[in-house]
Amino acid sequence: MSESTSATRGSAGGQSGKRGLWSSRLAFILAATGSAVGLGNIWKFPYITGENGGGAFVLVYLLCIAAVGLPIMMAEVMIGRRGGNSPVKSIRNITQAEGLNPGWRLVAAIGVLAAFLILSFYSVIGGWAISYVGTAASGALTNQDADAIGAIFSGLLASPGTLLLWHSVFMALVMFVVARGVRSGLEKAVSILMPALFVLLLVVVGYAMTTGHFGEAVSFLFQPDFSKLTTKGVLVALGHAFFTLSLGMAVMVAYGSYLPKGISIAKTSILVSIMDTVVALLAGLAIFPIVFANGLEPGAGPGLIFQTLPLAFGQMPMGSLFGTLFFVLLIFAAWTSGISLLEPLVEWLEEQKGMTRRTSTLAAGLSCWLLGIASILSLNLWADVTPLGMFSMFEGKTIFDLLDFLTANILLPLGGLLIAVFTGWFMSRQALENELALSSGSFSLWYNTLRYFTPIAVAIVFVYNLI
Ligand code: TRP
Repeated sequence: MSESTSATRGSAGGQSGKRGLWSSRLAFILAATGSAVGLGNIWKFPYITGENGGGAFVLVYLLCIAAVGLPIMMAEVMIGRRGGNSPVKSIRNITQAEGLNPGWRLVAAIGVLAAFLILSFYSVIGGWAISYVGTAASGALTNQDADAIGAIFSGLLASPGTLLLWHSVFMALVMFVVARGVRSGLEKAVSILMPALFVLLLVVVGYAMTTGHFGEAVSFLFQPDFSKLTTKGVLVALGHAFFTLSLGMAVMVAYGSYLPKGISIAKTSILVSIMDTVVALLAGLAIFPIVFANGLEPGAGPGLIFQTLPLAFGQMPMGSLFGTLFFVLLIFAAWTSGISLLEPLVEWLEEQKGMTRRTSTLAAGLSCWLLGIASILSLNLWADVTPLGMFSMFEGKTIFDLLDFLTANILLPLGGLLIAVFTGWFMSRQALENELALSSGSFSLWYNTLRYFTPIAVAIVFVYNLI
């Protein structure tokens, strides 16, 4: 795929000539998909679906993707392309050009902060995936029952040393790529690894279809039972729509700034959203038949895929091979997302503090690694430490839970809300029309959704959950 590895340098409109553009539309799609598809799809989506009762939650989630996530993704990519710079600078360029309050760039700061906090625990989960490559390859999963598989997982969580080792390896992988500059290599890696992950997921779905309780899983995922839906479930679905599409600022703005003019923002955003959603649903279809066939608990929490998939791999022919491959690909999916989480802060440090890329990567990566240790300890030694436990909203939440909740359910939707208001109510309509180049009907649909539906929906969900 030579066209996607050599970046064309050039300037288009607001984009400054020093920054390379994506070599093609495909390259942007690959990078954005690489960021979007990650642990959120394969690890988080199945477990929060299990915890929130299935069908009705999935329906709300799909609605949030289509009616909230997609319009915001288009807005973020558009801001990036128009501003033509790092997220903070892009917004500043737009506010300057349109005579708006420069304070809007603080929205980008929320995104940078959220990305940093997410990466700290994301890396710990990435470490679990690394650890499972060894477990699968050693044949330790072969013909084990659910209890034995569960014990392997609890054993991992109970050992801070092992968790720290793999967390460090994951963070080092991310820092290695970010220090060298994100685009060399990333495009190529994503173009091979994403399809491979997709195929392997299909293999597991095929296995689940033939040996698991597939019908039960399909009705669990797609037959909405609204009595199981809580208001917290709606907040979690909304938050996850932001998480899984890498929204809430920073990332898509940063990637959008490399998108050449003349490429349809709407079409590419739709494509990325569809691919992301398909991967999440496939993960659900791979996991739940195994859950039901083995009498496991769908609401088992963050350990769900690490307790179900190994069971499947342990029973299928050539399971050690498939299992090893699967976790390797999961690492790559997490890696490309992890890179996109560290990038915004590194860019910010370079720009604002004048650090070199190496120094800023080192500073950002090490601080994130350090914070990750708190998440590791929450799984064992600090399992009873609940810093904000006195507030009913945070009752029983460990540091790990708090970081997850604060970012996915508060900071990302808040960032998204502000983006929707900024784009829908402050930027000039003419600028938006030029940048998006849509038919007038499609433009109105997007514009009105972003102006009215998105902010109101996010605000209602927020307020409901606060009281
Ligand atoms: N979307 C990724 C996932 O599903 C996580 C992620 C990467 C992310 N970059 C982001 C989430 C930026 C929020 C913001 O695993």
